[in-house]
Amino acid sequence: MPHTEDALLLASHIGKQFGGLSALDDVSLHIRRGEIYGLIGPNGAGKTTLFNVITGLYQPSAGGFQFNGMHYESGKPHLLAQAGIARTFQNIRLFANLTALENVMIGRHVRTRAGVFGALLRDRGTRKEEHAITVRARELLRYVGIEKPAQTLAKHLSYGEQRRLEIARALATEPLLLALDEPAAGMNASETENLKTLLKTIRTSGVTVLLIEHDVKLIMGLCDRVAVLDYGKKIAEGAPEEVRKDPAVIAAYLGGGGD
Ligand SMILES: Nc1ncnc2c1ncn2[C@@H]1O[C@H](COP(=O)(O)OP(=O)(O)O)[C@@H](O)[C@H]1O
Ligand SMILES: [Mg+2]
Repeated sequence: MPHTEDALLLASHIGKQFGGLSALDDVSLHIRRGEIYGLIGPNGAGKTTLFNVITGLYQPSAGGFQFNGMHYESGKPHLLAQAGIARTFQNIRLFANLTALENVMIGRHVRTRAGVFGALLRDRGTRKEEHAITVRARELLRYVGIEKPAQTLAKHLSYGEQRRLEIARALATEPLLLALDEPAAGMNASETENLKTLLKTIRTSGVTVLLIEHDVKLIMGLCDRVAVLDYGKKIAEGAPEEVRKDPAVIAAYLGGGGD
């Protein structure tokens, strides 16, 4: 077991079976506070499954994890959200018929006294809180670079804007850990460059980032440390330049046809 003082997330021997398929097999990892930690691997390697375990969507078949000093074994997404994990999804999940601003405001309700039900009742305290939420949501839209289309329905935003909106919504929960599942998928080169800058800004703000990415170049240029999954097993972990040279990693990518 590694030293735990600087660990925000410490996953220990996680396994996840789907019928006869072992999607995760004895995966342990150690994410330090304040770093960008990359998770790469060929398609089907188990990256999203690992996200689903640590965000509480899936119950692991073996092992467990510690987040911010608390131990978890079973799936409780709302508890992990409250504990400070926020995520985006590989397939964008926004409220298509709500505005960009409203999508961020919904994220914000995780952190407020009244919560979503209070917002429906709208007593005086709630209205005051609602105003603060709107102000903060606008700030977050500005932060991710989509302030202008605040009143645009999510479905009418460009792909890159929708990805940024998902990040703004996740940040609205004031997470300790922001987990992003292939945020650059489908982005063009300039959108990817903007995303890179945004993720660096987020790291500077003190939020730890867990990044699943397809785009190995992006991962290598951005992450402090990287883990590589292949067929549900962690085959390498370390600084990007070490991992890049690792023969097992090269074999996984070349052998598996890349990702
Ligand atoms: N809910 C599920 N039910 C059954 N099999 C699943 C489920 N989710 C993922 N898998 C399988 O687990 C393996 C890992 O998938 P996934 O975690 O999505 O990989 P990655 O994100 O690295 O591409 C794949 O073989 C996939 O088909
Ligand atoms: Mg995936």
